Amino acid sequence: MKVAVLGAAGGIGQALSLLLKNSLPAGSELALYDVAPVVPGVAVDLSHIPTAVDVKGFGKEDLDAALNGCDIVLIPAGMPRKPGMDRADLFNVNASIVQTLAEGIVKNCPKAMVGVITNPVNGTVPIVAEVFKKAGTYDPARVFGVTTLDVIRAETFIAELKGLNVNDVKVPVIGGHSGTTILPLLSQVEGASFSDEEVAALTKRIQNAGTEVVEAKAGGGSATLSMGAAAARFCLSLVKGMQGEDVVEYAYVEGNGEDAQFFAQPVRLGKNGVEELLSYGELSAFEQQAKEDMLGTLNKDIQEGIDFMNK
Ligand code: NAD
Ligand code: LMR
Repeated sequence: MKVAVLGAAGGIGQALSLLLKNSLPAGSELALYDVAPVVPGVAVDLSHIPTAVDVKGFGKEDLDAALNGCDIVLIPAGMPRKPGMDRADLFNVNASIVQTLAEGIVKNCPKAMVGVITNPVNGTVPIVAEVFKKAGTYDPARVFGVTTLDVIRAETFIAELKGLNVNDVKVPVIGGHSGTTILPLLSQVEGASFSDEEVAALTKRIQNAGTEVVEAKAGGGSATLSMGAAAARFCLSLVKGMQGEDVVEYAYVEGNGEDAQFFAQPVRLGKNGVEELLSYGELSAFEQQAKEDMLGTLNKDIQEGIDFMNK
């Protein structure tokens, strides 16, 4: 496996690269790309960890070399939020960063699996899809918005609230990755039940968890360490799927368009990315209403990404 991290010198990029250096299968290559001049140093630093994963750093002018022959590309490049901002406020800065990086992927490794972390995910994933479409190489099974952080947060908060072992808690989270578009399906959590008040409070906490971190960091950025862990989990699931293991993750993908053109849902991963789009099952009345209420926002975010590429 050759895995590239684009934006590898950043808060997420460094945490993610560390976790991948420690957990990718032996013999893998890890390509670290960033426009920040520190990136070769990050690669040298990681290369001293004794695992059988070869790490190389690539600076601003070396995107092609970083991407050459990649199987998986993870994109955490771009600006994070500050207190008072919404993820949508990042669109103007991050859209062109994601476009440029996606053009590099199309040129150098058009068959790679692409995991988009850069916010606003609701709109940056459609940008990547449009770049592939323009080149005639779009395969919706290979482009993912990484929403794993919503899932691990939901699992953590529920385990804490109910005194459960977090390894036993599984929480479906569907929709998108901002505010009310993040929809945890608490009615489907096995081994726990919730009062109406708990459902309302937990749903809100999961939806606002990113803001919780942004405010706690007080201008110093947004979630980096938990996001590194979430993206590493997603990447390792992709690797397992590509190596023939049966693995299911929630991710923001272009599916059958039943709810919106892009929608976070359960997907079975395989050799070619999304092997099967799975149903997210029955919703409670609360979840059904919440889904209907957020689709307008999600569709607007998606359209912003598509329009950016077609202006
Ligand atoms: P950061 O500022 O610490 O790091 C961003 C890195 O991107 C920097 O090293 C910067 O040099 C690099 N960069 C900027 N332009 C680039 C380009 N054109 N090519 C390559 N690298 C480039 O930010 P961070 O905290 O790591 O967050 C990164 C992004 O991830 C933000 O947009 C943030 O909102 C998003 N994020 C998403 C999730 C999620 O759940 N999907 C969670 C947390 C953060
Ligand atoms: C998160 O959920 O932590 C990220 O999307 C970063 C943010 O801006 O909240």
